[in-house]
Amino acid sequence: MNKKEEQYKLLTSQIEALIDGERDLIAVMSNVAAAIHQTMGFWWTGFYRVAGDELVLGPFQGSVACMHIPYGKGVCGTAWQRAETVTVPDVEQFPGHIACSSASRSEIVVPVFDKTTPSFDQESKNGGKVVAVLDIDSDKLATFDEIDRKYLEGICKLIG
Ligand code: SME
Repeated sequence: MNKKEEQYKLLTSQIEALIDGERDLIAVMSNVAAAIHQTMGFWWTGFYRVAGDELVLGPFQGSVACMHIPYGKGVCGTAWQRAETVTVPDVEQFPGHIACSSASRSEIVVPVFDKTTPSFDQESKNGGKVVAVLDIDSDKLATFDEIDRKYLEGICKLIG
């Protein structure tokens, strides 16, 4: 197991303990964003919540960011539309990328599913309605790989 995987394992158990019994989604997202950001040292870590036909900025760590993202637009709106994780090694190569900061070079966006929707699949812990997305930006190219995807999806399953 490499160092990043060890960090993610520890982070996941810290988050499990941190949000245990907490039912307020904003409170949970706030502490989850802070825990990921501090542990992993990313450039920007935060949530966008689904509100009607757009995403609205939620709890985050990092510099100010755009507040509204339409369905299907940018990396965040695409992850919401596809209801799956989108990993972008170079944001300049992603058509329609929304640049909140010129420092952002690579990005990963992971959907948060509502576990209570009928289509939520307990086996895969996937499907169901997307209620938010977790957006993480890096100031370096190609930061995010399969390890990030696996553990960040695991964390998002804890908070849905
Ligand atoms: N780059 C994102 C917008 C959000 S900021 O990165 C915080 C996108 O293309 O959806």
